[in-house]
Parts: sequence; structure tokens; C-alpha cells
Amino acid sequence: MEDVVISLGGSLVNPGGIDDSFLHRFSEMVNSLKERYRFIIVVGGGRLARDYIEMARKRGESEYFLDMIGIMATRMNAMLVKSYIKNARFSTDMRDIFSGNVVMGGTEPGHTTDAVSMLVAELLGVKSVINATTVDGIYDRDPKLNPGARLIDDISYGDLLSLFYLNSSGAGPNQVLDFLSIKIAERSRIEIRVINGRDIDNFISAIEGKHFRGTRVHGQ
Ligand SMILES: Nc1ncnc2c1ncn2[C@@H]1O[C@H](COP(=O)(O)OP(=O)(O)OP(=O)(O)O)[C@@H](O)[C@H]1O
Ligand SMILES: [Mg+2]
Repeated sequence: MEDVVISLGGSLVNPGGIDDSFLHRFSEMVNSLKERYRFIIVVGGGRLARDYIEMARKRGESEYFLDMIGIMATRMNAMLVKSYIKNARFSTDMRDIFSGNVVMGGTEPGHTTDAVSMLVAELLGVKSVINATTVDGIYDRDPKLNPGARLIDDISYGDLLSLFYLNSSGAGPNQVLDFLSIKIAERSRIEIRVINGRDIDNFISAIEGKHFRGTRVHGQ
């Protein structure tokens, strides 16, 4: 059975309230593919993480402490996702990723759940990761701020790093992928498929390695 590693954006689970309809559709997809694939799903923090981090940051907490709050939020989201999926277990431990369907959140301060998904793929020797979020892929500029932003179908690790470097104004939460994720993908030649998770048919195409709408991040 083939392993599928998914970084599931917390923005899909909790965009400002729990998206029960999305969680049903996502779990049905996993269920329909369970004979062919084993899933390792790493869930992000979404609105829950943003709200708590923002408030604690105003109180003057350290970035490390804020990351710890963020990890708690990702784990709450992961536990919720687990409750929708039959035969999956929630874990906080990378040593649990070798068998069964696993749902997890963040692991340690200092990196995002996107980076965790890359580390999972690296450890398992999986050569692609599906990054599901609420936009259709990576654009040349933030599509929520620039209506004229152009979707990038295909980009190398190096070009993506330069694009983010050009666009970034310091560390911010609303970046599709962080630097560390891209560097881990690059060193282990893991293809990243960034998709809009709400389009389930497209999600399946990306899992199956078929043509999909979104962005393929890969080596030269
Ligand atoms: N160049 C870009 N291309 C695509 N999206 C971008 C870009 N720059 C910024 N964004 C923003 O990144 C957001 C997606 O990242 P975000 O971290 O907010 O969500 P997520 O990863 O799905 O959820 P979470 O981080 O909570 O797990 C989009 O909503 C978009 O506005
Ligand atoms: Mg994110």
C-alpha cells in the first residue's frame, strides 16, 4: 500500500468556525481511497491558532511560547479531523508514523506543520506531499490581496524561495509554504503539490499523481 502524506491547512478545518461540511467531504475521500493508500495527515492551526497567538503576542510572550500555543491548536484540529476518519489514530509522536492511518499536528516550536509534513515524507521515503489550503495554489503575489495575481503551475524549489524572499515582509503566518518546508523538500527531492483542499475531485487527482489544478514545486 502506498503512503500518502498530506499537509492539511488549518484554514480548511477552522476558517473562523469549524467547517463540518468540509470535514465530512474530506473524510469520505480518505475512506474511499483507503484500500489503495495509507494516510499520514498533518493538520495546521487555522483560526484557532491565529486568534490565540495574536492575543498572547500582545501580552508580550516569546515566539517559542507562541509556537507552543500554536502546536496545541494544531493538535486540537488534528484530534477533530481524527474523529471524522474511521480507522485513524491521533499521535504526537513521529515514531508512530510507520503504520496505520495517522493524524497529527505540530511537533516542536520553530517550524510549521508544513515542515512537519516534509519531515514525515522524508522519514518515510515518500517522494511527494500534498499541501491542501484554501487558495488554488501558489500565485506570483498573495491572491487574497491582489485580484490580478497569477497562479503558478510549476516552479522549482530555488525559484519559489526567491519569490517568497521578494514578497516577504518578515515572518508572517499567511505564507503558503515556509522556507524550512521548501528546504527539506529540496534536500530530499520531495515534490510539493499545492492545491485547494475544497475541490475533492482535484484532491484525488493530486493524490493519484494525475493532472491537477494547483502548483507543482519540484527540482530542476
Ligand atoms: N504567493 C502566494 N500564493 C498563494 N497564497 C498566498 C501567497 N502569499 C500569501 N498567500 C496566502 O497564504 C494563505 C494560505 O496560507 P495559510 O497559512 O493562511 O493557510 P493554511 O496553510 O491553509 O492554514 P494553516 O497555516 O492555518 O494550517 C492564503 O490564504 C493566501 O492569502
Ligand atoms: Mg499555513
